[in-house]
Amino acid sequence: MKTDNSCLLQKRMIRRIALKKSINNNILDLYHGDGICWQGIDNINVSGIDKKITKDGVKADAIKMIKSLDLSRYGIIDVDCYGIPYKTIKQLFDNSTIKNDTIIIYTFIQSIYGSSGKLLLQLGITKKQIEMIPTIFRKFAFIAFEQFLLVNNIKKHYIVQVNENKRYGYFKYKKRS
Ligand SMILES: C[S@@+](CC[C@H](N)C(=O)[O-])C[C@H]1O[C@@H](n2cnc3c(N)ncnc32)[C@H](O)[C@@H]1O
Repeated sequence: MKTDNSCLLQKRMIRRIALKKSINNNILDLYHGDGICWQGIDNINVSGIDKKITKDGVKADAIKMIKSLDLSRYGIIDVDCYGIPYKTIKQLFDNSTIKNDTIIIYTFIQSIYGSSGKLLLQLGITKKQIEMIPTIFRKFAFIAFEQFLLVNNIKKHYIVQVNENKRYGYFKYKKRS
């Protein structure tokens, strides 16, 4: 079952911490919903995108839209998606307008049925192996995600583990020199 804000306290806490470290208070909220995670946090400018119609967000598919966005004005990019944020974060890394030290906040939810194939292939696990025992290999998805960040020059990373399958985290984007 998809629950939009089941751990609101932790979600807001991580956003408050990230905001203190941000270069500015402009936030791109890619999975905006009703913007509940940012409610009650003062002095911020939130630009929201969501694939469904929401109170104050732009209606669009975040993954498709990222390549056409100018990311340079944002201090924080929020990726509070369902599932694994790999595709979205990859698109952000591939957009050359993203600035050094921009904070990316994410939600990572590993479900038994979720697709983590591309991430696992990076660890050298084959498609055939995943198909044979998917429940075992999918447990490696977060390790693969961390590996993906590491190869993209993200060496420091703040993580809150909510349970075996759910994590919230943030990191500062660092351009490769
Ligand atoms: C966990 S909720 C986000 C809650 C939100 N952060 C808040 O504070 O209320 C995930 C949201 O992502 C949206 N969503 C799912 N896939 C999307 C996509 N490809 N592009 C944009 N929004 C998407 C859903 O409609 C849903 O509102």
